[in-house]
Amino acid sequence: MAVSGGAAQDLPAKLTAQVLICSIIAAFGGLMFGYDIGISGGVTSMDVFLKKFFPDVYVKKHHAKEDNYCKFDDQILQLFTSSLYLAAVVSSLLAARCCKKYGRKLTIQIASALFLLGVILNAAALNIVMLILGRLLLGGGIGFGNQAVPLFISEIAPNKYRGGLNVCFQLLVTVGILCANIVNYFTASHQYGWRISLGGAAIPALFLAFGSLLIVETPTSLIERGHSERGLETLRKIRGVQDVQKEFDEIVNTTELAKQIKHPFKNLMKRSSWPQLITSGILQIFQQFTGINVIMFYAPVLFQTMGFHSDASLLSAVVTGTVNTMATLVAVFCVDKLGRRFLLIEAAVQMFIAQVVTGGILAAFLKSTNALPKKYAYLVLFLICVFVSGFAWSWGPLGWLIPSEIFPLETRTAGFFCAVSMNMIFTFIIAQAFLTMLCHMRAMIFFFFSGWIVIMGIYAFAFLPETKGVSIDEMNEKVWKKHWLWKKCFNNDRDQARDKP
Ligand code: BGC
Repeated sequence: MAVSGGAAQDLPAKLTAQVLICSIIAAFGGLMFGYDIGISGGVTSMDVFLKKFFPDVYVKKHHAKEDNYCKFDDQILQLFTSSLYLAAVVSSLLAARCCKKYGRKLTIQIASALFLLGVILNAAALNIVMLILGRLLLGGGIGFGNQAVPLFISEIAPNKYRGGLNVCFQLLVTVGILCANIVNYFTASHQYGWRISLGGAAIPALFLAFGSLLIVETPTSLIERGHSERGLETLRKIRGVQDVQKEFDEIVNTTELAKQIKHPFKNLMKRSSWPQLITSGILQIFQQFTGINVIMFYAPVLFQTMGFHSDASLLSAVVTGTVNTMATLVAVFCVDKLGRRFLLIEAAVQMFIAQVVTGGILAAFLKSTNALPKKYAYLVLFLICVFVSGFAWSWGPLGWLIPSEIFPLETRTAGFFCAVSMNMIFTFIIAQAFLTMLCHMRAMIFFFFSGWIVIMGIYAFAFLPETKGVSIDEMNEKVWKKHWLWKKCFNNDRDQARDKP
């Protein structure tokens, strides 16, 4: 999710231990986020947890005559999952201010503190209020972390490692999801399994908390806040070379320029910012409307709906989690070779087929009260893996990478903030609505998502320009102003004149 930087490529820099340590710390930010995505589905399928906090759902789930598709439909149960994302939207706004005023390091420390408080409340929860309050605090931590950590990585990383680190952040999100799936599998039958699962989130958070004591503040943040001397010193330390004057001057120029833009959000509303703003917003909405989080949040619940036993459902979530991580590695190696558009279009076709066949099988064989015949259940598991792998090498990482590389400097942070909040809002919507949609739309829900996938495939084919290999400072000239549609946003002379810094 890193915001790629735009400095020249030939700046002298080594990949120093400092930068590596900072990357590992950022990685724990990703793990923290991923662990949360993956943990709630397993926990909400544990009987002991349901009995304690959601007795109605527990009764429904075990009622022989209860409709397969509706047994988990409960607004409060969904709120348990989704409340986190709502809190993350609100807190990322505060985090953006905190980042600018007090620096990235302190923002990361606040993230881990909020997160730890949330974990304690969750693992020790005695009632639903503690549970939801804990989720809100976790959401606060995610909002602070997701705003600061990517910015931190992009400012600390030497230019030539920035792209790779970007997708690596997503890779660690997937590792977090996988860890959560594995923890759920082993804790499911334990009396306090849900407490262990929810408490496990403390591990990445503690690493982040202690790690953040060791990290340096980024040179950009120091210079931005008037500590130029310390900024220069830090730059030398993290680059491992003495000759950092060129990069230092660039940062000073950049921050001076940024200071002149009093209202970055107003700037973002200008016609010449529409291509980037619309593209990054659409990518985030589409990313969520692939239906990925139905699998990430609710895989165990979904597999139970199809008639898998509790254990098998959790194991299936481990399988999809492993596929998710492995396939993200494909993106790390292919994104700069095959290009963004190719991966997005190929994956749209793959995900469409997987969703339609899954929907067809469920419509034909999963009625209200039967269990899906074994061979079809395994086929659906396979199809879900096909779907997840397509997502993991395309709409997953690229949903973050593209917004981070298409904005010009003066609107980059504000633009990226809009992308992050758009993602959280639509994640919230899917998390809150899915179980109810499943109950009402039944197998049709898979056709609903596949319809969206057709639209996004057409969008990638017709409207999305290729950004592979283009330096981010040349995006406007080389990409947007040459695109058959988006170039129209630059035709207005008055607007062009205003665009000049
Ligand atoms: C998305 C998350 C999703 C995850 C799955 C991320 O890119 O933003 O919503 O759960 O990928 O790996």
